[in-house]
Amino acid sequence: NLHVGVIGATGAVGVELINVMFDRKFPVGELTLFASERSAGKTVETKFGTKTVALFSVEEAKQCDIVFLAVSGDFAKEYAPKIAEGALVIDNSSAFRLNDDVPLIVPEINGHLAKTAKLIANPNCTTAIAAVALWPLHQAFGLKKVIVSTYQAASGAGQPGMNELREGLAAGLAGKPVPAEVFSSPLAFNVIPHIDTFQDNGYTREEMKVTWETRKIFGAPDLPVSCTAVRIPTERTHSEAIVVETEKVVTPEAAREVLAKAKGVKLVDDPANNKYPMPLTATEQYDVEVGRIRTNLIFGDHGLELFVAGDQLLKGAALNAVQIAEASIA
Ligand code: HSE
Repeated sequence: NLHVGVIGATGAVGVELINVMFDRKFPVGELTLFASERSAGKTVETKFGTKTVALFSVEEAKQCDIVFLAVSGDFAKEYAPKIAEGALVIDNSSAFRLNDDVPLIVPEINGHLAKTAKLIANPNCTTAIAAVALWPLHQAFGLKKVIVSTYQAASGAGQPGMNELREGLAAGLAGKPVPAEVFSSPLAFNVIPHIDTFQDNGYTREEMKVTWETRKIFGAPDLPVSCTAVRIPTERTHSEAIVVETEKVVTPEAAREVLAKAKGVKLVDDPANNKYPMPLTATEQYDVEVGRIRTNLIFGDHGLELFVAGDQLLKGAALNAVQIAEASIA
């Protein structure tokens, strides 16, 4: 049994990390929760029992077998390499994702890379959710172009984002001004076509992460991937409309057959009965829902459209991280 450390255990991702480890019976012998001075000393209820949060120290964290980082990229940049001298570090931030010597893992795709690494990056949530649906299609039909439009939930901005959405909904219904401290504009009763900072090319960093990270995970450095990332007032599931052009001829039936067998995917594709992927049904589920599969009118028999919905805190973060840990000891 392993000594597991979680840094950022009281945040939205940290809480789910602990839940997922418990639910998947990850072999936790000892669990140490670390935080900064602000949260150290607090007691928290977890599925592993009541825990007192320890003050973070590199030396203590290095004693663990595996340490999950669910904190900012700045913290990860400074401390992850030091902790990795002693423990396997699985980092949820974007700090190391594009480093050549750090594997970026979605276990359904490249889990074997977890066996030898000391520092592993957990991908961007939107990327991980799309990847489980796109990888089997890439293997079967060869992806030539990928165009993604997202509908991202408040949880992408952590617990403060979810709180701001709830407060905003209440404020709006009461006729009061909707707050916008976490998000760039009020999220309740709105759609914000802007997540993270703009780059010189007019894309935001969140959008470029989908391009850069998909290429790295797929080992396809030149794959054209274009994303528009949009925030919508849902709580914790990201949805994505995806259009692909394929090398080989593809039909919706053939794609459904491939996706029905794909790991991490739940095929939900019955528009006649209004059954397709939705945050309402994908939330708190491990599998990413995939459906509304149809031939794309522009690319014809070399084109496909699909809609996916995946829990941002699970496959988009905590579940994927725990699956990486599982792959590291498999
Ligand atoms: N950046 C993502 C979002 C979440 O804001 O939805 C983290 O991967």
